[in-house]
Amino acid sequence: LLMSHIATATKVVSRMVAKAGLLNVLGKTGDTNVQGEQVTKLDIIANDMLQAMLDDLPMVAATASEEDESFVLTSAGAMTGRYLIAFDPLDGSSNIDANVSIGTIFSVRRRATVGTVVKEEDFLGPGSELVAAGYAVYGSSTMFVYTTGQGVDGFTLDPGVGEFVLSRPNMTLPDTCCCFSINQTNRNRWSAGTRAYVDHVLARATPRYAKTTGRYIGSLVADFHRNLIYGGIFLYPSDSASPGGKLRLLFEAQPLAMLIEQAGGSATDGRRRILDIVPEGLHARAPLVIGNTEDVACYGELVAAHG
Ligand code: AHG
Ligand code: MN
Ligand code: MN
Repeated sequence: LLMSHIATATKVVSRMVAKAGLLNVLGKTGDTNVQGEQVTKLDIIANDMLQAMLDDLPMVAATASEEDESFVLTSAGAMTGRYLIAFDPLDGSSNIDANVSIGTIFSVRRRATVGTVVKEEDFLGPGSELVAAGYAVYGSSTMFVYTTGQGVDGFTLDPGVGEFVLSRPNMTLPDTCCCFSINQTNRNRWSAGTRAYVDHVLARATPRYAKTTGRYIGSLVADFHRNLIYGGIFLYPSDSASPGGKLRLLFEAQPLAMLIEQAGGSATDGRRRILDIVPEGLHARAPLVIGNTEDVACYGELVAAHG
């Protein structure tokens, strides 16, 4: 029931994204969010939609969103609900106005005690404790991809009937580094280890990188989805502008790390497994290196050697 509510919310967001240009909801609201970033109108619409869909579910105690400073208790399950949902309502929002793929990312955790008032700390467990994670990607078709810890399944929205149809059962990463995804304009801000790895790939230093090609959309969810299908590595490392990384642990790194491990890959911050990191706050960030295990390990070795 919970998954079906989240999936329904993403169907509505998918419609809003598709109609955005017609409804005059493109562009920015003029506000900044808790991260200090400009908020787009669709960010708010997607946020409100997800919150509304989860608000009347008795099994959900509270939700936390990238767009809100603190978590929100639900009407139906604040005391009795067993689950806490974290989401990035619209990922890749800088791409909205250009009609480029964007998405929604979510995770589900079970809270330790039921019948008490939810505290922020209840959300701050390691990703290894998640019971489910997934995303919707609003691309040339809308897909819903999720795991409950028993593999990853992908569903494509059939717009004719408005239902998600199982199109990619048991998604597993192909063992090839097809796609190499990093924002290379940050090069001068990277550590020596990150530069060493990028140079290793660009030099095609090993046969593994002979046919690797650069792909970077700037919507994490779309970059992740493509790499999951073709194989490869996505990196948003720490750099001198974002020493703790840019991407958010709760709303982005944890759910995608659970998915990649379920698909046979790995996710680290360069040194530690993402799913082992305990977030320090709802909006904590982390460097993210995610994809095929062999490539994530190669990055880790060069960071260990060069810093
Ligand atoms: P969001 O739109 O939710 O704020 O996330 C944006 C993120 C992520 O989607 C993407 O991978 C990254 O920002 C791109 O950052 P750069 O523009 O710095 O490459
Ligand atoms: Mn995001
Ligand atoms: Mn977002």
